[in-house]
Amino acid sequence: MKGYKEDENGYYTLDSSGKKWYAHPKGQLPSDLFEIGIISRSAKEREKFPTQKPEALIERIIRASTDKDSIVLDCFVGSGTTAAVAEKLGRRWIAADINKGAIQTSIKRLQKLPDMQHGIAHYRVNNYDANTHLERRDIVIKKYGVQTDRQEAFFDGTLDGTLVKIIDLTKPLTPLDIQTIKDELENRPDESRNITVFCYGINSGIQAELKEENRRRAINKIFARDIGSEGVTTFEPASAEVNFERDGDSVTVTIADYISPTILARMDIDRTIFDEQIDDFHAQIDCVLIDTDYTGEHFKIVESDVPKKKEDFVDGEYTVLLPRPDARVAVKIIDMLGEETEITE
Ligand SMILES: C[S@@+](CC[C@H](N)C(=O)[O-])C[C@H]1O[C@@H](n2cnc3c(N)ncnc32)[C@H](O)[C@@H]1O
Repeated sequence: MKGYKEDENGYYTLDSSGKKWYAHPKGQLPSDLFEIGIISRSAKEREKFPTQKPEALIERIIRASTDKDSIVLDCFVGSGTTAAVAEKLGRRWIAADINKGAIQTSIKRLQKLPDMQHGIAHYRVNNYDANTHLERRDIVIKKYGVQTDRQEAFFDGTLDGTLVKIIDLTKPLTPLDIQTIKDELENRPDESRNITVFCYGINSGIQAELKEENRRRAINKIFARDIGSEGVTTFEPASAEVNFERDGDSVTVTIADYISPTILARMDIDRTIFDEQIDDFHAQIDCVLIDTDYTGEHFKIVESDVPKKKEDFVDGEYTVLLPRPDARVAVKIIDMLGEETEITE
């Protein structure tokens, strides 16, 4: 130890009065500043994710705060660093992210880990495939049948004889949103219709206040509808046609077709992204995983087709050995938006 002397009691330094101060046998207490370098460009762990954290940093935190088999939760997992480190350290883990691309990156990263035999369960917690206000607004208009009115500057249209206001659907309704509607109504003394307000989240206080005000008002009653609690879903699952042909102790799995309504809808929104590739359905598929002994519980990856380059397609046809003649085969297709479709023979 630098700067220390040693005697039969351990390492020590001397103060100005000559008193011996011994170093603690377990070393110095760590400070709350961790000095860990950023991930280098050529690092193996690099995932090309803009805010990716170094594994060494997360490892230190996990080691300091958990034991083997502890459950580590990261609600904002990004490129999957926390889950990957937790897995390597023998911890159980739960990871979440709002961004499909992040989930996709994390799943691929975790699948590359050598001991990832037990597979990863991927749950879709809600069925929205829209994150921006405009995407959600579009869903509301279609789902509820709002008649839009381009002449209107303030309201979005009409529904069942009411005027419709769709407030910013990325945040809950606020008293200020309601006030803005009331101010608009003040400027329209002849307006007799009621108002439907669509929002994404509303607290019970605002709802109770509106109810009370509506009771007192003869016209221009304001009804708030929370698309979150009304369970508006827009998600139509993808479907795949997969053929299984057995021949003795092997099976040939062929993906004959794959249709993702979500990708098709996205193509309509932004043709420039998908135009070149869409002639071939394989272009929509990011990777194909096969379990040759599927128990119905966990998907174990026995065979995987993950093209190295982004522009490469999956093969779509795989001949794999079966562990037993009666083993059940399952195929998981993960598409470019991270949607998973599982097909069992
Ligand atoms: C700073 S990044 C995390 C980076 C991560 N530690 C890594 O090493 O890759 C934050 C992540 O939080 C996600 N996120 C932001 N808001 C969220 C929300 N409300 N729910 C779930 N995930 C969210 C983002 O999509 C992003 O991937």
